[in-house]
Amino acid sequence: MSQYQEKATVSRVEQLSAKNYRLTLDSPDISGAAKAGQFVMIRTGLAKDPLLRRPFSIHQTSANGQLQIYFKVVGRGTDMLARVKAGEIMSVFGPLGRGFRIKKNSPAIIIGGGLGIAPMLFLAKSICRLKTDCSNDHIILGGRERSEVEPLVNDFRQFGLRLGLATDDGSYGHQGYVTDLLKSLELHSEYTVYACGPEPMMARVYSICKSGSMQCQVSVESVMACGMGACLGCSRMTKKGTYTHVCLNGPVFNAEELIWNS
Ligand SMILES: Cc1cc2nc3c(=O)[nH]c(=O)nc-3n(C[C@H](O)[C@H](O)[C@H](O)COP(=O)(O)OP(=O)(O)OC[C@H]3O[C@@H](n4cnc5c(N)ncnc54)[C@H](O)[C@@H]3O)c2cc1C
Ligand code: FES
Repeated sequence: MSQYQEKATVSRVEQLSAKNYRLTLDSPDISGAAKAGQFVMIRTGLAKDPLLRRPFSIHQTSANGQLQIYFKVVGRGTDMLARVKAGEIMSVFGPLGRGFRIKKNSPAIIIGGGLGIAPMLFLAKSICRLKTDCSNDHIILGGRERSEVEPLVNDFRQFGLRLGLATDDGSYGHQGYVTDLLKSLELHSEYTVYACGPEPMMARVYSICKSGSMQCQVSVESVMACGMGACLGCSRMTKKGTYTHVCLNGPVFNAEELIWNS
């Protein structure tokens, strides 16, 4: 699998809510090689400040060589990233990790919670491209409140998937969790569920999938220093009792491989 270190020009910066941003980068090599669920490591500042690159899911790629990330400002690196301007050059490394394994012949349920929505646009696009008709596939998006969900909804609508929306405070869509909407579907074992979001959400999604004998793939987060298997910073215990590198063997795993705290 090819990986590239590119000097990517920032072509667009969108502030989608108080702390959430979307960055479009001209990054033809990485966007051409990327698969849904993979990520990039981005040096967020000039020179070596901050020292480490930060990992971000690939939100979307386009045929003209652009790549997008969608992120929330949570600390120093993301704060610097939110301040970049169109025309600036960023150092981007990727695509990294193992993405979603799309089951072409299985109906899909895509679930994105909070920032876990980020990789799901690329996944929805990839699934709908493979199947040509995805009107029997579902996407469920959720967040704590309206501003975490609404700005991205139109981008998802274009694919024709059945859309479910939920917010904890009821300010947009169903009041409650994405898992309420998952349970309300007529679930059967043919479905493959693809999920990304907070750990408790994914644990609950996996538990529902297990009871319905549905396959479940999850994209997990971890602290990452190198993104390429060199630092051991992203180790996660598997059900077999061995450690796995989230950056190399993930971030997407079959949920049954991992240990979940319910
Ligand atoms: C594979 C992968 C994909 C990711 N994709 C996205 C994405 O698409 N959009 C997005 O907004 N974020 C994403 N993240 C998380 C993102 O990398 C962190 O938010 C970012 O590194 C924080 O950098 P910072 O310098 O702003 O914060 P720091 O100053 O480093 O940390 C600020 C706070 O954020 C917490 N934090 C730092 N890194 C992580 C992490 N990896 N997971 C959870 N909490 C963290 C710290 O514990 C601390 O509380 C992803 C992480 C991984 C591992
Ligand atoms: S981030 Fe360094 S080994 Fe995974």
